[in-house]
Amino acid sequence: MVDEAFAPVTSELYMPDEEIVRNAYVQDYEALYAEAQQNLEEFWAKQAEKLHWFQKWDRVLDRSQAPFFKWFVGAKTNIVYNALDRHVKTWRKNKVALIFEGEPGDQRSYSYWRLWKETNKFANVLRSMGVKKGDRVTIYMGRTPELIIAMLACAKIGAIHSVIYGGFSEQAIADRIEDAQSRLLITSDGAWLRGNIVRLKDIADEAVKRSPVIETVIVVKRTGHEIHMEQGRDYWYHDLMSLPIASPNCESEVMDAEDPLFILYTSGTTGKPKGVLHTHGGYQVYVSSTLQWVFDIKDEDRYWCAADPGWITGHSYIVYGPLILGATSLLYEGAPAYPYPNRWWRLIEEYGITILYTAPTAIRGLMRFGDAWPNRHNLSSLRLLGSVGEPINPEAWRWYYRVIGKERCPIMDTWWQTETGGFMISPVPSVALKPGSATRPLPGIDVDVVDDQGVPCPPGVDGNLVVKQPWPGMLRTVYGDPDRYVQQYWSQYADKGWYLTGDSARKDEDGYIWVIGRNDDVIKVSGYRLGTAEIESGLVSHEAVAEAAVIGVPDQVRGNVIYAYCILRSGYQPSDRLREELKEHIRHEVGPIAVPAKIEFTDTLPKTRSGKIMRRVLRARALGMPEGDLSTLEE
Ligand code: WT7
Repeated sequence: MVDEAFAPVTSELYMPDEEIVRNAYVQDYEALYAEAQQNLEEFWAKQAEKLHWFQKWDRVLDRSQAPFFKWFVGAKTNIVYNALDRHVKTWRKNKVALIFEGEPGDQRSYSYWRLWKETNKFANVLRSMGVKKGDRVTIYMGRTPELIIAMLACAKIGAIHSVIYGGFSEQAIADRIEDAQSRLLITSDGAWLRGNIVRLKDIADEAVKRSPVIETVIVVKRTGHEIHMEQGRDYWYHDLMSLPIASPNCESEVMDAEDPLFILYTSGTTGKPKGVLHTHGGYQVYVSSTLQWVFDIKDEDRYWCAADPGWITGHSYIVYGPLILGATSLLYEGAPAYPYPNRWWRLIEEYGITILYTAPTAIRGLMRFGDAWPNRHNLSSLRLLGSVGEPINPEAWRWYYRVIGKERCPIMDTWWQTETGGFMISPVPSVALKPGSATRPLPGIDVDVVDDQGVPCPPGVDGNLVVKQPWPGMLRTVYGDPDRYVQQYWSQYADKGWYLTGDSARKDEDGYIWVIGRNDDVIKVSGYRLGTAEIESGLVSHEAVAEAAVIGVPDQVRGNVIYAYCILRSGYQPSDRLREELKEHIRHEVGPIAVPAKIEFTDTLPKTRSGKIMRRVLRARALGMPEGDLSTLEE
């Protein structure tokens, strides 16, 4: 079923109905695309004019130090001014910004006024604890409103947030804290997941032990179970928020457009995760424009992006994008099928959700429970659907379209990356869709599929997906490692100045793009991006393992699962017990999402003469496919 995604069904076309086209923000995709092509800088300046700036830019784009591009040079702004401050001066003050439902069923809602006030209070708390502009603050917590408030409070005072997804564990957190050199950590006692408590604070304590650069820990009370509070280091959020210092007024720090907003760690080809850096100015323009075009958000909408705020999808399209547009969003804490497989469908009915944005893995997971669960609920409020994270296979696409969208709701299959900040290749509601294709690039985005020399591939031929022009939402650098930024993204086509996405793709006769998957050693498990290097070093950190290699193998629900190959140190014998122990070790060190589905013990690993593991050989063997060109194999 997953393999179907690799064989485009170009003949299948879904035309949007007239009413959708008539109401869409972008009614004429071709015209808007052409406008951007004609004058890229003017086009982005026009989008930027829609936002608030303390001071306007001198130049829209500075290419002089490419690939270190600068956007809206000389401008002063703060993304939180656009996301909150300006709304409370209008009628939006009373509009619901955020609806929250916890997994146990508890509900809360925040008007723009309340969210603004809570953010201000927490911003003042952070300031009083000595957090200054440019300081890095690490956030590791579950999916609750306080996570969003913590992000906004950091940005408001010019601190750089680094959110670590709640599915990561001790060593993964410690590495990220260390890399960012952050002295403050915001966490919670726990999070609810499938009726259980995930003991986040315990994990955070262990991580802090390993990276003692942390001086202060702020703890949100969520699950209420007993936890250890370290005297002089740990503080309860609610205690701090009730101090006189937590005043509800806090001016947004005036930031340069190019000042950093956040670091988000993501996996790359080799070594430790990279801190992808985004800035205030260009990012706010990019996420708000793209969200408006693609999800067409209107004041009447109730929008639900079911991703985790701890990933880029959450940063851009739960937190910043929707708030800048003044939207009403839903945030749900827990698992999709808890306590029953109708939880999501019940949420849609309960809150009258009009736009649902999720991932193929979630769709496939829920599809398995059958049509009866969604059919029990009135889903007629929905008008648009979205997908992100990996290619959506046509079978899942059709189910989503038919059973959830009742053949009325177009599916926005959005292709993008942590690095791109926002949607890059995606339909808008008014274009024709092909199941499994993210369609064409958005206005202002120039992409192509090319061979290793940069020659465009003819339709139907696989190649590298590249971006040929800078865009405002692009990453600015890899935190603390500018060389890696240049090396990873800009070196392969250095002469042409193109950005290398790391994905392989093909175009069809209509110029539609079909993303096939990663070209590098990144594995997508349930849409989560994991680096082989991080999992392998997790395995090797166990005393029994001398060497390890991991690969991704296609899976019906999760897209891919991890297979691990381990060479044991002498004195250790392969056994099922050791296998379980290694899985537990990875769960503990890297996180539950990185646990291999299968561990195989082996005496050798296929390597090149220079010692690089040939994962494609392992993959071919695992899938029982031909091993291909083995001329560089040393083994
Ligand atoms: C990689 C980026 C973008 C937010 C979540 C993922 C894959 C993403 C699609 C899509 C096919 C997709 C690509 C990309 N990907 N969206 N609609 N169709 N593939 O962000 O963790 O940085 O991962 O996800 O391989 O390079 P990320």
